[in-house]
Amino acid sequence: MRTWEFATGTAAQTQELAGQLAQLLRAGDLIILSGGLGAGKTTFTQGLGRGLGVREGIISPTFVLVRIHPNLPDGPNPGGPDLVHVDAYRLSSSGEIDDIDLENTLDSSVTVVEWGVDRVEHLAESRLDIELLRASGSASAGPGHDPVDGTGGDSSFDVEGDDDEPRTLRLSACGPRWHGVDFAVLGQTASQEKGTT
Ligand SMILES: Nc1ncnc2c1ncn2[C@@H]1O[C@H](COP(=O)(O)OP(=O)(O)OP(=O)(O)O)[C@@H](O)[C@H]1O
Ligand SMILES: [Mg+2]
Repeated sequence: MRTWEFATGTAAQTQELAGQLAQLLRAGDLIILSGGLGAGKTTFTQGLGRGLGVREGIISPTFVLVRIHPNLPDGPNPGGPDLVHVDAYRLSSSGEIDDIDLENTLDSSVTVVEWGVDRVEHLAESRLDIELLRASGSASAGPGHDPVDGTGGDSSFDVEGDDDEPRTLRLSACGPRWHGVDFAVLGQTASQEKGTT
């Protein structure tokens, strides 16, 4: 398994990095996103969707576990894979994941699973694990700070801009699919390969 780290300063930069990653993806790829509540998993997936040229409208699904965003024939990547976006937060086991039949769409899609660690690894031989981390010291969870909980509310339109914070994205490539793929091309200025484990 090889690991890279990237730093972003804003939500837009996280989306831009995801959009660059999209250029390296193809149908059949599985991405597992982890990191705490509000770390930026859905934000990242939005950038990925844009880069893949799929139908817009990637949101934090509250009750819907899986959404399929079809590739747009008149988008930037016609004929490319669809995006299947899963939020496994409410699933307690890999058994429940099997009920939503991701196998059916896996081969024709890029499948992205928020909170997918220990739940979906069995779906594919190879995967990318991407962990989003608040940079240390910027947790800003002092008194009076409302954590982003994805449940919406009056401030749900504040997502763009005014709450930008640094994030570290740790990308680990597992399995033969990624042999020879160099993720250092992403975010050229901010990346750092962390070596092989
Ligand atoms: N550098 C950054 N990268 C990504 N998001 C950022 C960054 N800085 C600030 N943000 C903000 O953090 C929030 C991330 O919310 P998002 O819904 O993407 O998180 P999530 O990890 O999907 O949460 P959940 O666990 O509830 O699904 C957004 O409001 C986004 O604008
Ligand atoms: Mg989310």
